[in-house]
Amino acid sequence: MIDVFSDSSFIYKGEIIKGKLLRKYIGGEAIVEIYENVVLKKRIPKRYRIKELDTSLRKKRTKTEVKLMSLARKQGVATPIVLDVVDDTIVMERIDGLPVRDILNEEICKSIGRDLAKMHNMNIVHGDVTPMNLILKENRIYFVDFGLAFIDSDIEPKGVDLHIFFEALRAYYDNWENLKKAFLEGYLELGDKDVIDRAEEIAERGRYVKRVSQI
Ligand SMILES: Nc1ncnc2c1ncn2[C@@H]1O[C@H](COP(=O)(O)OP(=O)(O)O)[C@@H](O)[C@H]1O
Ligand SMILES: [Mg+2]
Repeated sequence: MIDVFSDSSFIYKGEIIKGKLLRKYIGGEAIVEIYENVVLKKRIPKRYRIKELDTSLRKKRTKTEVKLMSLARKQGVATPIVLDVVDDTIVMERIDGLPVRDILNEEICKSIGRDLAKMHNMNIVHGDVTPMNLILKENRIYFVDFGLAFIDSDIEPKGVDLHIFFEALRAYYDNWENLKKAFLEGYLELGDKDVIDRAEEIAERGRYVKRVSQI
């Protein structure tokens, strides 16, 4: 068990893992603390939910996140190793690398495509594939955030996974078309063309809604 309340040291399997708190992210769902050696991700309680329900939901979602992180790793996708899970808190390896957001290129996009196809082949839907949730370390792309991931064998959620990534590319990179092309090449190596077609359909639906709402 880890002392998750300590500010600067953790006890893991009898050993003290020391490290300074380097950064802290407060998102909608979780508080993430980056220490030198470990990362703590704690799901935030939601006041609008009944307390007992909220506690059990957070526990359950934390468990799912951990399960899918390791399932993805078993398929050859790089993810942080989970050191411990304490109720609503994940203690995991810190990936000390470069944020993919700052260095994204075609080669990296191709590799992201390959990795997402590996996950989809196991019916893991990531739910939030964006450059923010990817870190490059020692030539490997780590997927660090499985907070919205779930298991589904349908084409639709997998198509949504691709669509979310393409939208992020379009929003942040001038050369998004080339990046998207590279991603698709990687995805097609292992993945299903139907998912790509579905992603296009989803984008078209979005454009249609936009056109109609402008009339
Ligand atoms: N294991 C990790 N190693 C290094 N940085 C991490 C790790 N996990 C998360 N981060 C960093 O913290 C940020 C927030 O964590 P994330 O799991 O994405 O939380 P959220 O679900 O709130 O988006 C990530 O974008 C990433 O920069
Ligand atoms: Mg995230």
